[in-house]
Amino acid sequence: MAYYQRRGDIPPKRHTQHRDTEGKLYYEELMGEEGFVSDSALLYHREIPSAVVDIRRWVLPDQEMIPNEPLRPLHLRLPELFKAGDVDTTDAVTGRRLVLGNDDVRISYVVAGDESPLYRNAIGDECVYVESGAATVETVFGALDARPGDYVVLPRATTHRWLPDGSRGPLKAYIVEGNSHITPARRYLSRFGQMLEQAPFCERDLHGPGDPPHGEGTDVEVYIKHRGAGASGIAGSVHVSLHHPFDVVGWDGCLYPYTFNISDFEPITGRVHQPPPVHQVFEGNNFVICNFVPRKVDYHPLSIPVPYYHSNVDSDEVMFYCRGNYEARKGSGIGQASVTLHPGGHVHGPQPGAYERSIGLDFFDELAVMVDTFRPLRLAEGARASDDGRYAWTWSGRGPSTSA
Ligand SMILES: [Fe+2]
Repeated sequence: MAYYQRRGDIPPKRHTQHRDTEGKLYYEELMGEEGFVSDSALLYHREIPSAVVDIRRWVLPDQEMIPNEPLRPLHLRLPELFKAGDVDTTDAVTGRRLVLGNDDVRISYVVAGDESPLYRNAIGDECVYVESGAATVETVFGALDARPGDYVVLPRATTHRWLPDGSRGPLKAYIVEGNSHITPARRYLSRFGQMLEQAPFCERDLHGPGDPPHGEGTDVEVYIKHRGAGASGIAGSVHVSLHHPFDVVGWDGCLYPYTFNISDFEPITGRVHQPPPVHQVFEGNNFVICNFVPRKVDYHPLSIPVPYYHSNVDSDEVMFYCRGNYEARKGSGIGQASVTLHPGGHVHGPQPGAYERSIGLDFFDELAVMVDTFRPLRLAEGARASDDGRYAWTWSGRGPSTSA
């Protein structure tokens, strides 16, 4: 994120001696993207951050993804993936169920009540949408408060852990893991990186970490997700760090985790139906993240507020229904935390009746997060386990398993 922040104790000049009150040197870490030629941060550690005393394998849950063949639109009922009795022993890192993915992005879901281990994703940035519950996300930069509706954006290689607030119910989170960086849509930014006046949110809506963290202890495990040689291309390792990674006394720079709450997205509306790009929030390589928030809808006297039928020629579209009543999907069985996949190659649009019923409506009370991918998505075990098996027939009212 290209605007400057600083926390804690840093020296006036970068790459110069920085000492504690006893005269001991701090260890400077440059965390820099794209080989030192993009955004970066400088962190000052009490101890050497490279010191590890053991390394072992982390066996990840099922990461296999199979092609969506024959091509089908899908409705996935993600809440079915987690039983209430398992939540207390499920954490927001190791308990994720992989749902959809390709070589650019992976989408997971978790219902977690347990604290996660320390974790860093060495493949790409993560954008975690908090559906409900709350958590503290402790990071090497400082803590973030994660509350319902927050996108928690964690840059690649950020050491962090998720601590759910049990008094707020289980943490339900929809996780978008990029194989790249995830940033606000580039077209919202000036050539120097400031958010433009026409952007639907601005820097004031982004919330960075609190004070630098203070972790205690030695021989501390850090779970690392990284590229691997298996069929999924994903592997896990555990590094046992001699010193706690949260020993940072200060940092500054333009690279750090932050939150953005969906309620701070100011929707752009018009006389006739506005296309999905007006709802865009973030982008990664070969995918975008958009959201549909409660809003006034089209005010042309002859407008049809729900979308026209559309063939998303170059993308697969994944909708996560977070809250409210999604007008275009009424009658399809879609509920809270449902996901639909509308793959390229199938023309999709409102369910029967929704088109006509929307005429005259002036407000949609809907909340949904959409990921559009520019390469086809494959189905992971979470999709195969939560497929309702009948979504493809909801526009026609009949399918091969129902009589004519
Ligand atoms: Fe669509």
